[in-house]
Amino acid sequence: MDKFFDKIKPEPFKINSISPLKLISREEREKIIKEENYNVFKIKSQNVFIDLLTDSGTTAMSNAQWSAMMVGDEAYGSAKSWFKLENTLKDIFGYNHILPAHQGRGAEKILFSVMIKPGQYVPNNMHFSPDRIQNTGGIMVNLVCEEGKKIQSDYPFKGNMDCDKLEDLIKKVGPSSIPFVEVTVTCNNNGGQPVSMSNLKNIKKIASKYNLKVILDAARIAENAYFIKVRETGYKDKTIKEIIKEICSHSDGCVASSKKDGMVNIGGFVGINDDDLYEQMQSICLMWEGFITYGGMAGRDMEALSVGYQEVCDFNYLKYRAEQSKYLGDQMQKKGIPIITPTGGHGVWIDSKKFAPHIPPEQYPGVAITTALYIEGGIRACELGNLAFSKRDNETGEIISLPELDLVRLAIPRRVYTFRHLEYVAAIAGEVFRNCKKLRGFKVKKYPTIKYRTLFLGELSPIEE
Ligand code: F0G
Repeated sequence: MDKFFDKIKPEPFKINSISPLKLISREEREKIIKEENYNVFKIKSQNVFIDLLTDSGTTAMSNAQWSAMMVGDEAYGSAKSWFKLENTLKDIFGYNHILPAHQGRGAEKILFSVMIKPGQYVPNNMHFSPDRIQNTGGIMVNLVCEEGKKIQSDYPFKGNMDCDKLEDLIKKVGPSSIPFVEVTVTCNNNGGQPVSMSNLKNIKKIASKYNLKVILDAARIAENAYFIKVRETGYKDKTIKEIIKEICSHSDGCVASSKKDGMVNIGGFVGINDDDLYEQMQSICLMWEGFITYGGMAGRDMEALSVGYQEVCDFNYLKYRAEQSKYLGDQMQKKGIPIITPTGGHGVWIDSKKFAPHIPPEQYPGVAITTALYIEGGIRACELGNLAFSKRDNETGEIISLPELDLVRLAIPRRVYTFRHLEYVAAIAGEVFRNCKKLRGFKVKKYPTIKYRTLFLGELSPIEE
């Protein structure tokens, strides 16, 4: 490789079109976050300087994607753009059948309503959202390996599932009480951590022994493939496309939010090998997402997505992507900030417990951190811890049990921010950390109707001393 390219790691693209950014004053930021009841989702985006709320649907598209949009075929039935997308997805993922969806949750709606019966257990390394499985009456079980629950580790595949625990669960509840085994690649809730190919093989072996299907949550499968290529023995000479194909060959289907590794702002799909399941899923797709050749996407969206999945298979892009997270993580660690290591695929996760140990867990230290990041530097991050994932009494909202990890995620949108932006983020986070003793706890002032959606829809207030 080229010495300076390797050392300086310049962005592997140039910028043709820009969105201006403005940092509003500290006084305005203080006023705004109070007015929005410390719910960062409600801050108007023009009042955010660096937006790290999510990497979902926030990607900057390439000129190839924008130009593909111009030939979008907007026919209701059997549009040309659909067949192009279907071919690309079959080529990359290798599943027999593809159904389109408006985004990841649409794909989950299709697959879950056909496959999950009320009372069944759904194992996963870590489920991203409690909503969708619970809505179908399923019971979520998280089986991520012990290393995956540690904040600091040098284990290369912290997204791996504990296969002994998987087999124990199957034996305990019986295979008929399990609709499928799900694996999230990469594992979002413990830091965008990858799953190894050997773990995927083992999961498939165990599932097959009990005649169970394996379904991938494939939102960030290309980032996972990158980590396999650079960390797992035997993969360094394989292409990203070959690795993705192999990952999928250890599964029977997938649900995917294309708003991540699809490199688009909206879209999703289901991949499935089984003909009968495909037949049943078609009806659900038709009812809730749209006809089976668009499923909620416009023809132009499908054109952009088809190009996006081809672009994400570029090793140089993925290397730059992983190095952005690592760069931000390294800068933050230099300032002593406690983060999950190794840094994962799509951002940096702060350990709220260690960052603000004086705030009791039920007073949401993560909210104190997201509030301070916004006030200090106009940065929007996302609490993914005690506010987002606590089990709550659905009448009162009161916490029944806390999640194992209490985190704040700084998710990096794809191809949007430069390394200089990330330096700014690290500097602001450093300043907040330097003053961490001043952070105060929060309480929920108003819950939404469904209490576990408090992260998105709740209102909070600081606890006065
Ligand atoms: N699966 C994973 C692993 C996800 O991270 C998400 C969304 C979904 C499924 C659902 O996809 O939003 O397109 O309906 N994650 C976003 C995030 C929202 O911020 O991590 P969707």
